[in-house]
Amino acid sequence: MTTPNAPVRSVTPRRPARVVVLVSGGGSNLAALLEATREPGYGAQVVAVGADRDSAGGLALGTEAGAATFVERLGDHADRAAWDAALTARVAEHDPDLVVSAGFLKLCGPRFLERFEGRYINTHNTLLPAFPGMNGPRDALEYGVKITGATLFFVDAGVDTGAILAQVAVPVQEDDDVETLTERIKVAERAQLVEEVGRLAREGWRLEGRTVRVGA
Ligand code: GRF
Repeated sequence: MTTPNAPVRSVTPRRPARVVVLVSGGGSNLAALLEATREPGYGAQVVAVGADRDSAGGLALGTEAGAATFVERLGDHADRAAWDAALTARVAEHDPDLVVSAGFLKLCGPRFLERFEGRYINTHNTLLPAFPGMNGPRDALEYGVKITGATLFFVDAGVDTGAILAQVAVPVQEDDDVETLTERIKVAERAQLVEEVGRLAREGWRLEGRTVRVGA
């Protein structure tokens, strides 16, 4: 679906593409990306890892891999707008072709989007638009769906509402609990993230309204 007069963004990344990854937790998605970038043909390098908390395990993974790291805590700023401006400046320092939110538990603000919209993607652990927000797998399980999965999308100003780049389906098993389902989704989610970031890096992309074309 293309909408008349929808904003168009075309990005041709440098080679290798410069990627900044934002994390809040353990960073298994980041670890998978870092592993993939060891292959020169992959086409992307993680130049920096940023977090909103010191405890994010992904920071150590970034350091080990030789990437720069930074932490921008919301609580260190007078308000959300100041944090948004500081995070935007931190990410901009690394001059990214692509910014990847991988388990980053904060919504970026208007300043960030003004600078990076169209080159900022997030991975979510359900099949959007079903079950957005922080507790997707739990909500999917409680609802009783038989298939869920993971969605990679370009972030816009809404909560998990941006243009969809890729989705992978994960069947719900009868004996699943939140933990087993979450973990099985993460396996599929990581593979999808690695595949799609590589494609974006190597082929570039064009975003027209809600339509994403890789290699266009
Ligand atoms: C991912 O499943 C993501 O969808 C969710 O948090 C998880 C992050 O995991 N928002 P990790 O930190 O990459 O291991």
